[in-house]
Amino acid sequence: NRSLVSINDFTKEEILQIVDRAAMFEAKPNQDLLKDKVIASLFFEPSTRTRLSFETAIRRLGGRIIGFSDASSSSTTKGETLKDTIKMVSNYADMIVMRHPLEGSARYASEQSSVPIINAGDGANQHPTQTLLDLYSIKKTQGTLENLNVFMVGDLKYGRTVHSLLQAMSHFNPVFNFISPDELKMPDEYKLWLDSKGIPFYEHSEFTDIISRADILYMTRVQQERFADPLEYEKVKNVYVLRNSMLKNTKDNLRILHPLPRVNEISTDVDENPKAYYFQQAENGVYARMAIIASILGLA
Ligand code: CP
Repeated sequence: NRSLVSINDFTKEEILQIVDRAAMFEAKPNQDLLKDKVIASLFFEPSTRTRLSFETAIRRLGGRIIGFSDASSSSTTKGETLKDTIKMVSNYADMIVMRHPLEGSARYASEQSSVPIINAGDGANQHPTQTLLDLYSIKKTQGTLENLNVFMVGDLKYGRTVHSLLQAMSHFNPVFNFISPDELKMPDEYKLWLDSKGIPFYEHSEFTDIISRADILYMTRVQQERFADPLEYEKVKNVYVLRNSMLKNTKDNLRILHPLPRVNEISTDVDENPKAYYFQQAENGVYARMAIIASILGLA
């Protein structure tokens, strides 16, 4: 069976097919596509957008959902292992959507499961379905995925969305600019990845008027829950705040993305700016996830 654990599980062609298919689902959802399908939604870590947009996608396509949104209501609290949980649930469902705090847990689950696993976020590692909705959002707003200047801002160390997005965008000849404090820089493995593909990237610690060059400004939240030491979080929280006044000299085609939730990193005075796209981006999650489910289950 075919799982989606890392964005690298999909080729460029498959990524483009999902983006195109998301547009088709947005124009015309197929209400019977998941008739007779049961999809398990196992969230061992909190979520609003990912879980609810998956559930909306499944219901709008005529499917049914089982699962839990809070692992404390599952037998995990009695000591059941992830392996046993996945083995059981894969006998109940046609596919499993799983979020888990441990890096590598989605790959491990895919090795135990008899049905496809979709990684809805595994710790600080990957969030491939977020990336596919991000790509759909970029294509919708820029008209292309090619040759874009992508700025990623904030927690580039623990932010799993930027890790997956960087790898996916690598297919499309981007230039990257990374803005982060020293403590939260893009991990070396991802920079080595870019080097191996010959993709240029520039690192900055100041959040200044260099954003005037951006086509996409991808803001991220400092991931408080991934810090072992709360004092380290206190040092970097609120490190960058995007304000409406900072957008004066930016490109007309600039769009501001954020996987959400935000804490303070985008001032609410940005929300009414036409360059703010994060709420539409979250809506696009429904269409992208319809396309992902259809693709993984091999449904036309
Ligand atoms: N973007 C995202 O993953 O949001 P949630 O944590 O609310 O699912």
